[in-house]
Amino acid sequence: MHIKNLQLTFVALYILITLLKPNIIIAIDGYSSCGKSTLAKALARRLHLIYVDSGAMYRAITLYFLQNKIPVPLPEQLDTIKFDYDSALRWIKINFKINYLTGSSEIYINGKNVERQIRSIEVSQNVSHVSAIKAVRERLVAIQQEFGKKGRIVMDGRDIGTTVFPHADIKIFMTANVEVRAKRRFDELTAKGIKTTFEEILKNISDRDYEDSHRKESPLRQAPDAFVLDNTFLDEQEQIEYVLKVIKEKSLINS
Ligand code: DC
Repeated sequence: MHIKNLQLTFVALYILITLLKPNIIIAIDGYSSCGKSTLAKALARRLHLIYVDSGAMYRAITLYFLQNKIPVPLPEQLDTIKFDYDSALRWIKINFKINYLTGSSEIYINGKNVERQIRSIEVSQNVSHVSAIKAVRERLVAIQQEFGKKGRIVMDGRDIGTTVFPHADIKIFMTANVEVRAKRRFDELTAKGIKTTFEEILKNISDRDYEDSHRKESPLRQAPDAFVLDNTFLDEQEQIEYVLKVIKEKSLINS
C-alpha cells in the first residue's frame, strides 16, 4: 500500500514537472484509425495542453478541392500535373474553434464549420492524394509550426515527430492490427449514422496506410526517437498510462 502511494506520488510529481514546463510538445504519429486523436485529446485534458488534429487540416483542404473542382492527382499523376496549387491555397483560411457544447475543437474553412463534412467517405478516399501534394504540405506544415510556437501542444498526424516538430519532447508512434482498426472505425461511423461497410473501411484504411507511407513528401515514418505504442489489445486508460510512463522515463533520462 505504501509503495503504491509512493509510486503515485512520483507519477504526480513527473506530471507536475511536465505541467510546469512551458513549451512541451507531444507529437503523435501513426497509421490511419489507430485512435491517435482519442489518445491526444485525453492527454490534452490530463496535461492541460492544446490539441491540434493535423489530419483534420488535410481533410479540410481535400473537401475544399472537391467542392471547388480543383484537380486531385492520383499518385502516378503527381509529378506531371500542371496546376497552380499555391494560388488555389491562397484562398483558403483554416482555423479551429472550441465548440462549447461538446468541449472539443472543430475545424473551419473560410469561416464555415466543416467538422462533420470532412469525415465523409468521399473525403477519406481523396485525402491521401491531396496530402501528397508538395504545396499543400508546405502550407499546412507552416501553419502547424506556427501553432507550436505557443508551446503546450499535443498534435497528431503522420509527420509530426519527423517534419513538423522534429524536436518534440515526446514522440509516440501508434500502430495496431489493421482489421481491429477497421472494426473500430466501422463501429464509430455506424454509431454516427454514416452508412458504410466493414470491407469499404478496411480497404480505405489499407490504401491510406500504403499511400501515406510511400509518398515522396514527408511520408509516414517512425521517428528514430519515437516510442512505439501498439494498441491492438489496449484500452484507452492503458494507453494513457503508457504515455504518462514514457513522460516519466524521459524526465529520468533527461535529468
Ligand atoms: O488522421 P486522419 O486519418 O484524419 O488523416 C487523414 C489523412 O491526412 C491521412 O490519410 C494522411 C493525411 N495526413 C498527413 O498526410 N499528414 C498529417 N500530419 C496528418 C494527416
